Amino acid sequence: MSSPLRRPLIAGNWKMNLTLAQSVDLARAVKEGAASASGEVAVCVPFTAITVVAEILRGSPVRLGSQDVYWEAQGAFTGEISAGMLVDAGCQMAIIGHSERRKLFGDSDEWVNKKLSAALKGGLTPIVCIGETLEERETQKTWRVLETQLAGGLKGFAPADLSKAVIAYEPVWAIGTGKTATPAQAQEAHLFVRAQLEKLYGKAFAAGTRVLYGGSVTADNVDTLMSQPDVDGALVGGASLKKDSFLRIMGFKAA
Ligand code: PGA
Repeated sequence: MSSPLRRPLIAGNWKMNLTLAQSVDLARAVKEGAASASGEVAVCVPFTAITVVAEILRGSPVRLGSQDVYWEAQGAFTGEISAGMLVDAGCQMAIIGHSERRKLFGDSDEWVNKKLSAALKGGLTPIVCIGETLEERETQKTWRVLETQLAGGLKGFAPADLSKAVIAYEPVWAIGTGKTATPAQAQEAHLFVRAQLEKLYGKAFAAGTRVLYGGSVTADNVDTLMSQPDVDGALVGGASLKKDSFLRIMGFKAA
């Protein structure tokens, strides 16, 4: 962490896990642990858990997010949820363009762009995910992929519109695999992302935008990752489902 503008953010992504009873239990533990967190904390929960978790987190600094958002406000869009509905249910944040959405459900940069626009208009803090696959890394396409995803996803805004936006660099080969990017690989990619943000929206914007790392973040590797100057937080999947590990990650120690 370097810039004081970039308050560290640890966000849990529960993905498609946990019953309501388990969600309540975990949310209570996160709320209790928030007092000893090293930065801001958020949990991004399944749609069905939003209202119960919102109730538990009421009055706490822990922020609540969804894992996706649809770009239309309302209407005949079976299965989708709008930004307005998410805010109404108690969300303040939304993950957009997670690699699982991109790979399994066809989310494109164009869709990410539309979802981002809807999230911002609706008052949600977006966490926009980008990242290369193993094949792309091995064929030296990492920078091109990140550049394309950022340019496509963040197209057409004014820097002020995006002032709340958070970027998550999540190398696809590190997600759920136990293979974390090394701190040096993460720092290199985050620096590249920041350079792209500067190209798109200027120096001040790039310097003030939080870039999270995601991909097999654990209690054991969070401190070294968070010690990198351009790593401003973590998006945590598997390790966010266990109280002990997530509380330890929330209380990371950056050198
Ligand atoms: P993981 O997932 O921590 O289980 O690798 C991260 C993510 O997909 O956001």
